[in-house]
Amino acid sequence: MNRAPGSLVPYRSERTSPVTIRSASGPDLPFGPADTPWQKTFSGLRVVDGVPQVTAPSGDPRQLYMEIPEVPFSKVQIPPNGLDERQYAEAEGLFRRYVDSQTHNFAGYQVTSDLDYQDRLSHYLDRHLNNVGDPYQSSSYTLNSKALERAVLDYFASLWNAKWPHNADDPESYWGYVLTMGSSEGNLYGLWNARDYLSGKLLLRQDCAGEAPSVVYTQALRRKGQSPHAYEPVAFFSQDTHYSLTKAVRVLGIDTFHAIGSTRYPDQNPLGPGTPWPTEVPSVGGADGTGAIDVDKLAVLMRFFASKGYPILVSLNYGSTFKGAYDDVPTVARTVREICTEYGLDERRVYHGRDRDSDFDMRSGFWIHIDGALGAGYAPYLQMARDAGMVDDAPPVFDFRLPEVHSLTMSGHKWIGTPWACGVYMTRTGLQMTPSRSSEYIGAADTTFAGSRNGFSALLLWDYLCRHSYDAQVRLAAECDGLAGYAHDRLLALQEKLGIDLWVARSPQALTVRFRRPSDAIVRKYSLSCETIHVDGEARAYVHLYAMKHLTRELVDELVRDMRQSDAFPDSEGCGARRWAGIVPALAQEDTAACRSGLLRAPVTGTRSR
Ligand SMILES: Cc1ncc(COP(=O)(O)O)c(C=O)c1O
Repeated sequence: MNRAPGSLVPYRSERTSPVTIRSASGPDLPFGPADTPWQKTFSGLRVVDGVPQVTAPSGDPRQLYMEIPEVPFSKVQIPPNGLDERQYAEAEGLFRRYVDSQTHNFAGYQVTSDLDYQDRLSHYLDRHLNNVGDPYQSSSYTLNSKALERAVLDYFASLWNAKWPHNADDPESYWGYVLTMGSSEGNLYGLWNARDYLSGKLLLRQDCAGEAPSVVYTQALRRKGQSPHAYEPVAFFSQDTHYSLTKAVRVLGIDTFHAIGSTRYPDQNPLGPGTPWPTEVPSVGGADGTGAIDVDKLAVLMRFFASKGYPILVSLNYGSTFKGAYDDVPTVARTVREICTEYGLDERRVYHGRDRDSDFDMRSGFWIHIDGALGAGYAPYLQMARDAGMVDDAPPVFDFRLPEVHSLTMSGHKWIGTPWACGVYMTRTGLQMTPSRSSEYIGAADTTFAGSRNGFSALLLWDYLCRHSYDAQVRLAAECDGLAGYAHDRLLALQEKLGIDLWVARSPQALTVRFRRPSDAIVRKYSLSCETIHVDGEARAYVHLYAMKHLTRELVDELVRDMRQSDAFPDSEGCGARRWAGIVPALAQEDTAACRSGLLRAPVTGTRSR
């Protein structure tokens, strides 16, 4: 019996009166582990005299959603009555095997996947921890982990050379919080902070006689003699920047140099007068380069806008997403300072009213935000490793040692490794947006992005940091650096042996190595992240692997072995595929011989060791 989508099907509940549920295209869509038509799964529902206000499927989700072969969707669908014990055990077992197997081979993202928390912390899965409100104000919401959060923040403040502890009365001391999302939230918050600071916004607490204090969001007014653009920040970030920055400027209504340039100054692109404005600041060497921002080009672009009085907002990568590149933060900081000084944007007065000359605060006319999603987590240890002679080199300084750095973010699930996204945001107390004081309900100022915040994340970070000394972290960072070097060498050797350009590259001190995208099967097996890069008009499909703590040399070898198979690069037309076809069987024979002689490990099964 077919019915129009959304039509109502009379339904008689088990116990009492007829109930009505919304039906869609037909009554017999198999649903759930028992393939029971969805409408019939209501038979056990204890609706007393009620009408379940729910909709039936308008199509078959099994047909509509992508298939994960290891976890058939039918097994995990949730009928209105839930799953029985046996069905649950089967579904959870399938999911667990899938997750465990993908964890075993995980190599393609900058996320640490071998975690070790459950023995100590599973207790807290049955506890509610919510760090709602400011970390430094203990809230009436006592089920929180703010004490641990403050310990974690102090740890990072020290690691990143900020003044600590946080002191609300000391503008030079740090302020920060543990993020409920990852660096995407840190970037969003950093840019929000920057936007309000540079555009002269402030929150004022107004005490009106006999009334509760209220919060007024005010905008500094332009004074005579100030540039018409004095409170219009313009954002700069490189072409290698994470997409969360593009999203953040959109959400926050911040204009990028591209948006302002192409609308207000369409023919004046200073990097090529008459040519279109680039959408982002070019990286050194363009798409085929290291991935670090081109400081000279950034300087030209910044100068164009600073000379017109626009405040400058720069977001820098410290470990860019695909190439793992480090922007040269010290050089950018110096350049920003010089250009802004030249145009009176170094230190400036932001007046709170139109009339009173004495009512102003001093602010810089620029803001530098560091997106250290991965790099801020381990580069300090790599710098220590370099100073101890354990590695040759380390990425540049990026932290609060540089007075020009205003804010910084890092993801907790990347270098440290946590079972879900989290992170840290940090700035100086004097740069903080003035908090709303209207959050009496929670007993703490509402200074963070989210209302409710994940208190378990602070516990995880605290646990990890308590159990890993600086020495341990330094050794780990040096090992990962060495492992990235090993992967790079192995892939270069493969490339040379095959006589085919696999575009193998590693940016300086990056924990990632990028190369030509192999077959879908290999991409899936190792969870390799893919990206198309346009080089000289050619669209190149790349993948990368990340040398995180869980990666082993054995897994790198296994990947390289898989890439020697004849079907490893099905899309490699024009890269010597025909020649390859002749080479690969010979390599496979070599591998077999090497396995027999013990030089190469057979494909890995079971738990790996380092
Ligand atoms: C450079 C960079 N910034 C920001 C992010 C976003 O971080 P998250 O996934 O923690 O939100 C990533 C994620 O890969 C990244 O690589």
